[in-house]
Amino acid sequence: MNQKMKSLYKEYPWLKITTTIKEYVAPEYYNRLLKDYTFDGKKDTQFFEEFLKSVHSNEIINALELGCGSGRATKVFIDSLKTKEFKLELVDLSKRMLDFSQKKFRNRKNLEFFESDSIAFLEKTSEVYDIIFSFWSFSHSVHQILIKKGYGEGKMYIQKVIRKVIKENMKRSSKFFLIHFDSLSEEQKILMKQWNKVFPIYNNLDSQSPSKLLITEVLEELCKEGLIKLRSNYFEGDAITYLSTNEALEVFLNFHMESYFNENSLLPDIIGELENYFRKFTDKDGRIKIKPGCFIYEVERNG
Ligand SMILES: C[S@@+](CC[C@H](N)C(=O)[O-])C[C@H]1O[C@@H](n2cnc3c(N)ncnc32)[C@H](O)[C@@H]1O
Repeated sequence: MNQKMKSLYKEYPWLKITTTIKEYVAPEYYNRLLKDYTFDGKKDTQFFEEFLKSVHSNEIINALELGCGSGRATKVFIDSLKTKEFKLELVDLSKRMLDFSQKKFRNRKNLEFFESDSIAFLEKTSEVYDIIFSFWSFSHSVHQILIKKGYGEGKMYIQKVIRKVIKENMKRSSKFFLIHFDSLSEEQKILMKQWNKVFPIYNNLDSQSPSKLLITEVLEELCKEGLIKLRSNYFEGDAITYLSTNEALEVFLNFHMESYFNENSLLPDIIGELENYFRKFTDKDGRIKIKPGCFIYEVERNG
């Protein structure tokens, strides 16, 4: 490790925390770093609570959650349902996230956990679900596949799987609820610039992420074909406050960038760019306020 890296590690000891794409951020650390994501005062989970009111809970519910993480949306789903007659499958690529959620919901018998990539799981499943939901996760799977297979092949494969899910794994009135990040938000813009240094799929920094574009494209096609009703809304988030540059750097590098760059020779430049960027959002008391954004898709299968 060169002198510059050594001094960064001394200044920011949390740089020593590393992870892999597969294992993601450790659940306890994830929960600690995660801020409230609110949109005009309304939490992301509250949007889901409202959406769930439209799901008939007097019937048996067969549900699927993609990228459950530490179980935030899972808890909302379980608590909101009036019926005890449900089955919920939970998918996540990270074993430690699944272990954490399995422990958190250990009193629940009707949960089944799958350690898998979301899209690989969707490709294989033959279940028919009443509801499929995913918070801030589906894009991870999409982007990983685009990086692995290449943009053209990856896009074709993912759109084919989404079509298959709508046609074969949903029945009349089945619902799909998806929260997808806004890559052009104040929060994500600077992150996309960093990812673009290592992954060329992010090369158009003026447009939405490849994941958002390809999901919108295939859902709009399915809507035109009469297979689904589609509602997609954009929400600008309330600014998230970081009390210091140190706190903002830890969240951006270890949470949003999953420690990907912590041992990379690009680290000093990236930290420099982030510090510069944060200055634009710093108030006179030294607090940094940065807005996120998201798209919420609500899909209903037609008969
Ligand atoms: C930002 S977290 C969101 C977690 C949770 N849904 C929430 O809102 O708190 C992203 C989650 O996606 C998972 N993940 C990353 N890549 C994935 C993939 N290819 N397939 C399934 N899950 C994945 C991570 O392990 C992590 O749990």
